[in-house]
Amino acid sequence: MSVMDKLRIQGGKKLKGTVRISGAKNAALPALAATLLAPGKYNISRMPALQDVLTMGRLLQNMGTTVEHNNGIALVDSSGVDNFEAPYELVKTMRASVLVLCPLVARYGKARVSLPGGCAIGARPINLHVDGLEKMGAKVELDNGYVTATARRLNGARISLDIPTVTGTENLLMAAALAKGTTVIENAAMEPEVTDLAHMLIKMGARINGAGQSIIEVEGVEELKAVDHEVIADRIEAGTFMAAAAITGGEVTLEGVVPGHLDAVIEKLRACGVKFQDVQTGLKVSAPSRLLSGNIKTMPYPGFPTDMQAQFMALMSVADGTSVVEEQIFENRFMHIAELSRLGADISESSGVATVKGVKSLRGADVMATDLRASASLVVAALKAKGATTIHRVYHLDRGYDKMEQKLNALGASVERIST
Ligand code: EPU
Repeated sequence: MSVMDKLRIQGGKKLKGTVRISGAKNAALPALAATLLAPGKYNISRMPALQDVLTMGRLLQNMGTTVEHNNGIALVDSSGVDNFEAPYELVKTMRASVLVLCPLVARYGKARVSLPGGCAIGARPINLHVDGLEKMGAKVELDNGYVTATARRLNGARISLDIPTVTGTENLLMAAALAKGTTVIENAAMEPEVTDLAHMLIKMGARINGAGQSIIEVEGVEELKAVDHEVIADRIEAGTFMAAAAITGGEVTLEGVVPGHLDAVIEKLRACGVKFQDVQTGLKVSAPSRLLSGNIKTMPYPGFPTDMQAQFMALMSVADGTSVVEEQIFENRFMHIAELSRLGADISESSGVATVKGVKSLRGADVMATDLRASASLVVAALKAKGATTIHRVYHLDRGYDKMEQKLNALGASVERIST
């Protein structure tokens, strides 16, 4: 894989068959970061093969950890951690690098982490991570684009988040696990990935109550131990395959998915005419050749996920009627509109609200991926478009989708990677 890789997709093929859903990117990354909380050997399974997972591995290796990837298992030995810095070169490619901040401070009393880059989907500050850490007694400074935090031992605190930030909640959970006394996180993120991290921490010896709810209480312990953990299914990958099946009027069974994590998505797709059926091997998704339009507003879990907004918009671009898509989590997450328009979609946007008029058909064209989920929406649209679509900059896709083209081809799509 190279950064210049392209995908060429011949549209118009109905997807049919079974696809196995991989482990969740956004659960795998905090699980890897959590290995900094206790020295020892970890066996983390259902690790998706993704660029972001490799980046997190490199970040940990840079700190003195050994990380080996073997057939979907990450073997991590964090006994040798002796460097507490996350350098710009790594952090700039992946915002989730900030997840090492709190475990390092909690376990080693210091961390120096470059301010994150990652997807260009808005300003995405980390003020809530930093405020929470300061409330727990850490001294935090910003210099030359780095956050430096130090503490002897963190103290439990009552932290009320202005926004239910996902990685912020995860960071503070890890800090609280080793703090002295009790921490209460109010307005916590309730995403399944937060709950998965809490389950891993509880296995490690943390005392956590209320994970998955908006108030989480953590009673800090002196030390934690290394454990084995299996990452939960990727609900966004599953949702993306639902959209891909639906736009082609196909019939696809998703294996290893947790339908309960996708209630909001399933409900919306149902209203547009997609059918879902629990079968022995998983969840069967089938769709008529044309869907009805539908409106969505992105919200924190359990609402409709922002990470499915772009794919849903692609689907609505060829639905019957007009759809309204409101993005409420990130202010700049509509970069796919211009690219979908190149394929013939009729979409207009004003202040975070997109109006999508369903067109009869899309036509293949050259398009550019701008961020991870925008890339996924281009793949979804290209599967329907007449003729060939070439998607440039697929490195965005490789950050977050495990073997996407192989999985799509196994369902009857025609997707070719052009490596340069
Ligand atoms: N926010 C602040 N201050 C903070 C933190 C967040 O103002 O200190 C704001 C953000 O700017 C945003 C909102 O809060 O407007 C929510 O952001 P959040 O912190 O929840 O996002 P995140 O933790 O950076 C995670 C996922 C994203 C996903 C969002 C929302 C990981 C590694 N990333 O990001 O995933 O879109 O939650 O669900 O878990 C993706 O996978 O493509 C992706 C971008």
